Amino acid sequence: MSANTQPDAPSPEKPEGSKAPKVPDTPSPCSRRRALTLSAGVLGGVGACALAVPFLDSLRDPEARLKEAVSAHATRDVDLASLAPGHHMTVPWRNWPVFILHRTPDMLHALQDPALLSRLRDPDSRERQQPPDATNPWRSVRPQFAVLIGICTHLGCIPNPRPVPVDPQAGGWFCGCHGSQFDGAGRVLRNMPAAYNLPVPPVRYLNDTTLRLGESAGNGFTMQDIVQL
Ligand code: FES
Repeated sequence: MSANTQPDAPSPEKPEGSKAPKVPDTPSPCSRRRALTLSAGVLGGVGACALAVPFLDSLRDPEARLKEAVSAHATRDVDLASLAPGHHMTVPWRNWPVFILHRTPDMLHALQDPALLSRLRDPDSRERQQPPDATNPWRSVRPQFAVLIGICTHLGCIPNPRPVPVDPQAGGWFCGCHGSQFDGAGRVLRNMPAAYNLPVPPVRYLNDTTLRLGESAGNGFTMQDIVQL
């Protein structure tokens, strides 16, 4: 039988007329001292913790801040020699995937197709989603290379390469999260969940086949200038 089912023990009988022993209303000096000591200990502990957290933060902050500063200005060089026309690669840079597509002449032609342009939300790259030297029909410093931050401007998923149905020659990307479609210049189609073109990072070419991410060719554009990322 469990303890709960045991009958309660009978309370001791009190003689008739006897008075219950008097319980003191106030704690004894001894118990009061113990309570004060306990309270002081608890408050002291809380105070010590409150002081310790900023102290530990102050020890950690310089290193964290330095890492952030380095990361914010980090550049990455990418060798494009082995990227054949029509092929695509993704490289990590500053915690973002960067899509690099070697476009063919046919793709470049298709990106100016009026039928495609009429379906794009911002065909002329009016929104500041790219540096000035990439504000052109291809949204790139060199037309044959598309360089885009591979983060959907709706809610941040990573789109997959998939040609836009309106003109498959133009290449493109499809975001499987909510169905946004981007052409081979990262321009979003109208009436998609994503409202902005894919961002173009600052880029500088060191030679014919080496690309430097994170450095603009003297126009001062940085990732902080992007409207939507
Ligand atoms: S996150 Fe890409 S469409 Fe929603």
